Amino acid sequence: MACWLPIFSLVLSLLAAEHAVSSGKLPSYVSPCKRDSNDLNQCILNAWEALRPKMGGGIPKLRIPPLEPFLIPETSIDRRSDSLDVKATMTQLAITGVNSVVFSKLNVNLTDLSGSVSLAFSDLNVTTLYVMDSMLMKTIPMKGQGKFNGTINDVKVNMTGKAELSPKNQRGHSYLKLVEIKFKGFIGDARGRLVDNSTNPENSIFAETANMFFDNNRRDVLDVLTPFIEEFCEELVLGVVNQILSVIPFEEMLI
Ligand SMILES: *[C@@H]1O[C@H](CO)[C@@H](O)[C@H](O)[C@H]1NC(C)=O
Ligand SMILES: *[C@@H]1O[C@H](CO)[C@@H](O)[C@H](O)[C@H]1NC(C)=O
Ligand SMILES: *[C@@H]1O[C@H](CO)[C@@H](O)[C@H](O)[C@H]1NC(C)=O
Ligand SMILES: *[C@@H]1O[C@H](CO)[C@@H](O)[C@H](O)[C@H]1NC(C)=O
Ligand SMILES: *[C@@H]1O[C@H](CO)[C@@H](O)[C@H](O)[C@H]1NC(C)=O
Repeated sequence: MACWLPIFSLVLSLLAAEHAVSSGKLPSYVSPCKRDSNDLNQCILNAWEALRPKMGGGIPKLRIPPLEPFLIPETSIDRRSDSLDVKATMTQLAITGVNSVVFSKLNVNLTDLSGSVSLAFSDLNVTTLYVMDSMLMKTIPMKGQGKFNGTINDVKVNMTGKAELSPKNQRGHSYLKLVEIKFKGFIGDARGRLVDNSTNPENSIFAETANMFFDNNRRDVLDVLTPFIEEFCEELVLGVVNQILSVIPFEEMLI
């Protein structure tokens, strides 16, 4: 869920490594790394650590939204697979714990604008309002509306991404665009509770059944959910990153 985090490594790598400070668009607390530095990856990780205290509140100048909590006002999922059939809208989705991410194995390639990084989160708390009409493992209906809260423990993600440089626009500017992002995630464990608030009593029973089923089959359910979450995160991150990258013309990142 805290999926869009990897953008920082990518964005920082692309911004910081390209001496973006000179454009005046980067806040002064971002220390740039040298493009040809031998320890570019370590430099980027250090830059992230310097930024971390600011990330909780977000950095409007770079269109980086607040991370603590990370809020998604509204989002919808409509997916089908053999084991899961999800149609859901979530509003006021809030995740805490995102800014405690631990990065490792960062590897940025400025030649082909690709990169990879591993992330770890020890605890993420999630709350959301939901409206859904879904079917879990072909047997458990999840239908109704209400509130969900949960805790996700020990999340590990391997992320890879690739960017491209757009053709110049009329004003002679080109922009970096993330064209591909891949998540491979593992969720150690999770606890959660659906509380239905609809007037239909059948829906409350669905919610309680789903809660019990999840409690008793957490590993299996998490394994089924993980690919959906990965895909959801890929889309989310792609959107957020490209929003950030659209702020600064590539030319201004270079001196
Ligand atoms: C998550 O919630 C639990 C229980 O309410 C709390 O102890 C913990 O500090 C919270 N963690 C985060 C990262 O918000
Ligand atoms: C970066 O990508 C280029 C082009 O794909 C490749 O030739 C080069 O070996 C890569 N560099 C590193 C350090 O992986
Ligand atoms: C019930 O849940 C829905 C969807 O989450 C929400 O929009 C609505 O305000 C809630 N109603 C009450 C009475 O809490
Ligand atoms: C959900 O919230 C309830 C109280 O609102 C709390 O007792 C419970 O521990 C929370 N569950 C999780 C998994 O965070
Ligand atoms: C991440 O990659 C490492 C090896 O590079 C692997 O051992 C680990 O299982 C991967 N983690 C996930 C969540 O896929």
